[in-house]
Amino acid sequence: MKAIQYTEFGGPDVLKMVEVDAPHAGPGEVRIAVRAAGINPADWKRFTGLFRDFMKIELPAGVGFEAAGIVDELGEGITGIALGDAVFGLAADAMAEYAVLSSWAAKPDDMPFEVAGGLAVVAETGTRAIDQVGVEAGQTLLVNGAAGGVGSAVIQLARARGITVIGTASEAKHDYLRGLGAIPTTYGPGLADRVKRLAPDGVDAALDLAGSGIIPELIDIVGEPSRVLSIVDFSAPEHGAQFSTRPQDRPERALAEAAQLYSEGAFRLHLAKVFPFAQVGDAYALSEEGHVTGKLVVSLA
Ligand SMILES: NC(=O)c1ccc[n+]([C@@H]2O[C@H](COP(=O)([O-])OP(=O)(O)OC[C@H]3O[C@@H](n4cnc5c(N)ncnc54)[C@H](OP(=O)(O)O)[C@@H]3O)[C@@H](O)[C@H]2O)c1
Repeated sequence: MKAIQYTEFGGPDVLKMVEVDAPHAGPGEVRIAVRAAGINPADWKRFTGLFRDFMKIELPAGVGFEAAGIVDELGEGITGIALGDAVFGLAADAMAEYAVLSSWAAKPDDMPFEVAGGLAVVAETGTRAIDQVGVEAGQTLLVNGAAGGVGSAVIQLARARGITVIGTASEAKHDYLRGLGAIPTTYGPGLADRVKRLAPDGVDAALDLAGSGIIPELIDIVGEPSRVLSIVDFSAPEHGAQFSTRPQDRPERALAEAAQLYSEGAFRLHLAKVFPFAQVGDAYALSEEGHVTGKLVVSLA
């Protein structure tokens, strides 16, 4: 099969389309013929070498953490899913013609494969962040970096739980945030004052999805360090805030919840751009610029 791999660290140019043996589904896994796969910043953080000091990456390495497609192989012990089913989920080395999913959910019939291909990581991360920071119905959540993939998911997942969301993004994206159900504000100096005006009674929790060195400021705004959580800033625990990185125990529940909300019309995933498989490098170059609205996806259809 064709797969995207790198044999040295560097910019998107190190990504090559190569011929490799297709992987097989192990116990508790399914293999899919990939129709679309999502672009995530964690990929370029790995292939550029940013994570090299604390994460062992053996070369050649693949890219891609999520995909959608058609089930074509069932691992041992798999029930409730059949060959030919359309699913989406989490995988390693997903940017390939075939990928093995470790967790998945059925793709709703009315959800395009491109949307499903970019959904798993943001659904899992968004659900985990909301659960872990402990914000509940009737409370207010401040989301720093709300217009990207994870932020777009967090806003809608939180709104579905009855949580009020204030989200930061550059001014041009404020209508986008409003469309998802958030109250927008800009990031940068003066954030605490702007949030105070939008939420005079205060905010109950904050998520940092941008890693812009804002943890102390978010703690001041919330008033309680443990109610601030970052998915990017490794220094968060030094301030008493939380850092979250590992997928939760049962990610498939988060995937199914997002799919259900999609079917109910309560969740959408804006695709900033869909790239053909041959242009994966361009997709990562755009992701690296750091201003994607919603999600970037690669189509293998
Ligand atoms: N720990 C985990 O489990 C986990 C899981 C998934 C993702 N992540 C990490 O979480 C981060 C977000 O992921 P993502 O997929 O949502 O990324 P993304 O889609 O690339 O995020 C892009 C967004 O970031 C916003 N942004 C850029 N600079 C900002 C700043 N200084 N302040 C606030 N917002 C800013 C941009 O808004 P503007 O254009 O308006 O600036 C843009 O809409 C990445 O670093 C990713 O690696 C971690």
